[in-house]
Amino acid sequence: MHRLTQLMIFGIAFVALPFAGCTVSEMWEMVKQGLREGLPDLNDVDPDNYDCSVKAQVSGTAFGFAAGTTGGGSAAAAAPSSLEELAEWITDDTPRTILIDRTWDFVGTEGTTSGQCCSTRTTTCEGGTSAGQASIQDTCDDGTWVDCTYDNAAKTPLQVGSNKSIVGVGSDGVLRGKGLRVIDGNSNIIIQNIHITQLNPEYVWGGDAITLDGSDQVWIDHNKFSLAGRQFIVSGWGPAGHVTISHNEFDGVTDWSAGCNGKHYWTMLLIGEEDYYTFSNNYVHDVSGRAPHMGTANTDSTNFFHGVNNYFQNIGGHAFDIDTNTWVLLEGNYFDSVDTPLTETSLTSGALIYNVPTVDSASACSASLGYICEWNRLANSGEWPERTDADVLSVASQYTDSLIGHVGVAEVPDDVVANAGVGKL
Ligand SMILES: *[C@@H]1O[C@H](CO)[C@@H](O)[C@H](O)[C@H]1NC(C)=O
Repeated sequence: MHRLTQLMIFGIAFVALPFAGCTVSEMWEMVKQGLREGLPDLNDVDPDNYDCSVKAQVSGTAFGFAAGTTGGGSAAAAAPSSLEELAEWITDDTPRTILIDRTWDFVGTEGTTSGQCCSTRTTTCEGGTSAGQASIQDTCDDGTWVDCTYDNAAKTPLQVGSNKSIVGVGSDGVLRGKGLRVIDGNSNIIIQNIHITQLNPEYVWGGDAITLDGSDQVWIDHNKFSLAGRQFIVSGWGPAGHVTISHNEFDGVTDWSAGCNGKHYWTMLLIGEEDYYTFSNNYVHDVSGRAPHMGTANTDSTNFFHGVNNYFQNIGGHAFDIDTNTWVLLEGNYFDSVDTPLTETSLTSGALIYNVPTVDSASACSASLGYICEWNRLANSGEWPERTDADVLSVASQYTDSLIGHVGVAEVPDDVVANAGVGKL
């Protein structure tokens, strides 16, 4: 039977049969899984005892620098039934496909700390349009101490074991009040279709969503990040390794902004020792800084970054801030209402940047990369200073297997908004 006909019959059966306990998004997952992997014989299905959740799985295959990442691989997908089980499954060393089928709320589970936080001008925000953030820290040389209370759970992310897929079901997967951290040489991890949020957004150092420090082979795909105290994604000082960050939504809307403008400042800080990033099709909006910052002079590091087909929108501050020890190829990105697409200091830091500012510079990719790069486009935005460092192309030519293709930059806004974030698989 034709696949589409099969799917339609299957879909109609879902509507007609009382599949006990299945949410609409779980049923939709099952239909999509059926398309990919073949449909179950409905004669064999007992709708009253059907476990919908086990039909969800990782969607797609890792590409770019994280190609080959398989996460939990063929481990049977299962949804934990308690916070303790969730934490155990994420942190143990058993390969797993862990379904996040609800909001797991860690806020309050480890108590709160009341004490003093450091307030500076990015806290008081005179003349700003939102409140700022006080800092959870031990010294306060250029500020004043203020009372503060923060949640403890967000300060200690879950440590992800090797060979894990952590996958949201439909648009139901939320980690509230706790982030994820990959350290100690752990690798082969897929984080897909989950929303990480509520990490003490009032306070700098309140919590990071995803930390990579001594990791390798990590695919961060179709997630949403919002309301963090500190970074949405951070790497350093150990290697982050081979990482693909694709189709994520970085939503910076906040009531507490170190940029004092209702937009989150600490978007991404990528300063690992040896990092290779594919950063593609992400929707980065309503942030005010470090979107992203990469590179550092503090270590003898290597950071290769391929940023392609991302949509940066409503950035009241800066997008790219690039320090030394970096090789950065930026193509097919769309900047809409971005104050500073690329900081001035990026131009003098020693960073090597190829930012495809012209038709000629797009064509010039061919000799090294075997394809014509896509230029970047700006609307209602600040300057895009021309940088075409040839070393970027010669280094990139060693990694052509990891350079993914692109769509025309004109398609980026619609395409990215329609497909980035949770519930879009
Ligand atoms: C992860 O999978 C790889 C490849 O199968 C294996 O070599 C490694 O031991 C696994 N790690 C853990 C912690 O199970």
